[in-house]
Amino acid sequence: MNTLVPRPGILEISPYVGGESKLASGRRAIRLAANENPFGPSPKAIEAYSALAKELHRYPEGGCLAVRRSIARLHGLDMERIVCGAGSDELIALLMRAYCGPDHEMIYSQHGFLMYPISAHAVGAVPVAAPERNMRTDVDALLDQVTDQTKAVFLANPNNPTGSYIAVSDLFRLRRRLREDILLVIDAAYAEYVTTNDYEPGVKLVDMFPNVVMTRTFSKIYGLAALRLGWAYCPQPIADVLNRIRGPFNVSAPAQVAAVAALEDQEYVRAARVHNSRCMAWFLQQAAEVGVATKGGAGNFALMQFDDAAKAAEYLKQQGILVRRMDAYGLPHHLRVTIGTEPEMRELLEALRTYMS
Ligand SMILES: Cc1ncc(COP(=O)(O)O)c(C=O)c1O
Repeated sequence: MNTLVPRPGILEISPYVGGESKLASGRRAIRLAANENPFGPSPKAIEAYSALAKELHRYPEGGCLAVRRSIARLHGLDMERIVCGAGSDELIALLMRAYCGPDHEMIYSQHGFLMYPISAHAVGAVPVAAPERNMRTDVDALLDQVTDQTKAVFLANPNNPTGSYIAVSDLFRLRRRLREDILLVIDAAYAEYVTTNDYEPGVKLVDMFPNVVMTRTFSKIYGLAALRLGWAYCPQPIADVLNRIRGPFNVSAPAQVAAVAALEDQEYVRAARVHNSRCMAWFLQQAAEVGVATKGGAGNFALMQFDDAAKAAEYLKQQGILVRRMDAYGLPHHLRVTIGTEPEMRELLEALRTYMS
């Protein structure tokens, strides 16, 4: 008998399954399953990354100084309170490890990002899902789940996969009604895509409260998903905690140089945002014309509804188009589609037209 068992909670994890990226036939796929920037990163980031090829025997700079300096300059933040991680996934896991443990509860929204319950189980904590209303985070429902055991609330804003977000007034209402010993993590992975003015990524709350952290990523609008780089903006004591438990070289050198160059190219970011807004609006309207019910949102992805979503996903795959099944998010009739390039979206619409007829 094997007496070696992992810690409680770990075997309750269903491993995260990422969006599909390849077709069995080996033919080039249209990849709309992982909310990546379809145009890739700024050419300046690619140049900086390539230039580092001769330095791969060197350890990275452990404090991500240049990245934090650039982020601080761009967003007007205190660089001492920025902590970088290998993707925001790592920061989510570190925050969970630092503040939640066995028998603690972590509250998240019903259709919230899957890494929250996974990271909670990994530290033996109990993930508690708060019901949503019309696929939208419900602040009162989150507050209703609070117990003496609650240690953290994780909120993706905008949320993946629903695309909905709560306005700045609701964020403040949530924070003010939570106990002070509960950490609120605002995951703003899609912040750069949002174009409405009632949205706040979380900076204002981090600056006002000692128990709020905002996380961001270079994997989405910056197009650097392969390099794994995210950052957290924290109150100083929380930054100090994260710096104690993160790996000393948790962000690779290529990721650091590419991120600095990408941050300098804000025109590229602006163009990606403009493309996304326009293409999203056009796609939603065209999808309605071919008879597919959709739900757009503030991020770079939309949900499409089908009677048989598995069949629709399989059909699209046969046409070389990869989208994301939503069963794991409790949305078995939906597929999530990333807003790609215009030619990619035209091919998708053609395939949808044929499928619906
Ligand atoms: C809401 C949300 N948070 C975090 C992440 C993880 O991003 P990263 O690549 O920085 O780990 C994702 C990726 O899909 C996401 O959708």
